[in-house]
Amino acid sequence: MFSGKRRQFLQQVATAGIACSANSFFKQVAFAQPPANSSDVACIYIDSRRTIAPLDRNLFGSFLEHLGRAIYEGIYDPASALSDGSGFRKDVIDEVRQLGVPIIRYPGGNFVSGYNWLDGVGPKKDRPRVLDKAWNTIDTNQFGTNEFMAWAKIVGARPLMGLNLGTGTAERAAALVEYCNLEKGTKWSDLRRAHGVEQPYKVEHWCLGNEMDGPWQIGHMTAAEYGLKAQDAARQMHAVDPSLKLIACGSSGPGMPTYLEWDREVLEQCYEYVDALSLHRYIGNTQEETGKDSAKFLAMNLSMEKQIAETLAVCDLVRGHKRSPKKLWLSFDEWNVWYRERSGDAMNGHEHEAPRLLEEVYNLEDALLVGGIINTLVRNADRIRVACLAQLVNVIAPLVTNAKGMFRQTIYYPYRWALQMARGNVLNLLVESPTYEVSEMGQVPYLDVAGTLSQEDGKVSLFILNRDLNKPHTVEINWQDRSPGKVLSSSVLTGGDLKAFNSFDAPQRVVPQSADTPLTGSGRTKLEVPARSYSAIQWAS
Ligand code: AHR
Repeated sequence: MFSGKRRQFLQQVATAGIACSANSFFKQVAFAQPPANSSDVACIYIDSRRTIAPLDRNLFGSFLEHLGRAIYEGIYDPASALSDGSGFRKDVIDEVRQLGVPIIRYPGGNFVSGYNWLDGVGPKKDRPRVLDKAWNTIDTNQFGTNEFMAWAKIVGARPLMGLNLGTGTAERAAALVEYCNLEKGTKWSDLRRAHGVEQPYKVEHWCLGNEMDGPWQIGHMTAAEYGLKAQDAARQMHAVDPSLKLIACGSSGPGMPTYLEWDREVLEQCYEYVDALSLHRYIGNTQEETGKDSAKFLAMNLSMEKQIAETLAVCDLVRGHKRSPKKLWLSFDEWNVWYRERSGDAMNGHEHEAPRLLEEVYNLEDALLVGGIINTLVRNADRIRVACLAQLVNVIAPLVTNAKGMFRQTIYYPYRWALQMARGNVLNLLVESPTYEVSEMGQVPYLDVAGTLSQEDGKVSLFILNRDLNKPHTVEINWQDRSPGKVLSSSVLTGGDLKAFNSFDAPQRVVPQSADTPLTGSGRTKLEVPARSYSAIQWAS
């Protein structure tokens, strides 16, 4: 990856010692002004005693909606030679199982707000063909709750079940909990058994509706109305199973006119009945959002960081109002880059089955920002316990299928690294980085860093986004209380063309490369991160 000359330079730097002067530190927080670092060298200070929180693996969840070709043709395609006896695509199963996705949100999304879960259970021949009004698509209901639970078990993921609080009632929501979680002897648990499933699924996490603040949402209502409905649903659901973890719908994005006020009003109604509040965010490199400026686009994870801080402030405000001992956590249950396939026919199924909707093609810069977003989520692991890359297959997704196989989009790679390497405690890193000016954001560090330390095996993992579009950066890591073991892996996603993307014809155009093994001496590691790159490095204890 690095040329001989560059390696020589790094070796010189390693022996000479370079410009990390840690006379003041800054934590990477949205729009925080870092201390001036006159040198071009970025410094990362690691002290294993200084941690943010244990990382909840559910931070790297994903999402499957009855939308486009996510379910039908994505994970379920009984007519395909690539499918097993249950109609599940075996290649997709293998990929998702290997990824180790911990939790998957289902069945929506906007879809859930008009969904009658009873249409999707029982003998397949009796299930109705329904016109889904969220995406104007025919749903054959051949895939429903029991198929999802079976599939999730095979891939090793836990379900994050979405409930219809649009057209659906609180009573029907509680009925689904009973169907899923009670063993036997009640109307709905016995119905599940009549459908051939003896053991209850014991689903823990439930979303109380979806984006109910959005005028596009089926059953959209005011914050006070939704807050009361969520409270009612939560009470009925807890009567069925007190162990549930319930997530209320927060604002669907900072662009909403009711942003934060929605969250406050909802929580005033249901704070004591729920465990968490949801956030959603899709980022685009558009004229309106970034002026189509890639340097700004790559800083947008900091805008998500701001959204997280603001939402938490509202949660804690209501906690104060209620004098509640309970602290809510956040479920960032939809996040991704999404802006190209976001209007017109890309959003309208025209009453077809499994139409091609939201089939966003992801390029290198999208993948770099996804890496930055993962860093943001990791740094906020003290309050975010669940997050879902939206979505998983075909629809705004890292994986794309056709009749013959599948390929991995660019955004797959940072997501895979997080799943593979981010483990244990999140490190509270101190980072000094040179900065650049971004309109409406001020000085933004070129380097965005997150790291973890696994208590089980002592492995340290670092994830570094270099936002500099033109220059590589030298990084000096200062190990403050211990030196690392040998480098287990060092990889980088980069390239000359920010707009390069993968496809069935060119599935390897944007893939990670192995990077030089970073050199360590006297408690310092030197490495260089290329321009426009996201790197993942892991050390043994
Ligand atoms: O993930 C696609 C859609 O985006 C979801 O259905 C909805 O919740 C969000 O607006």
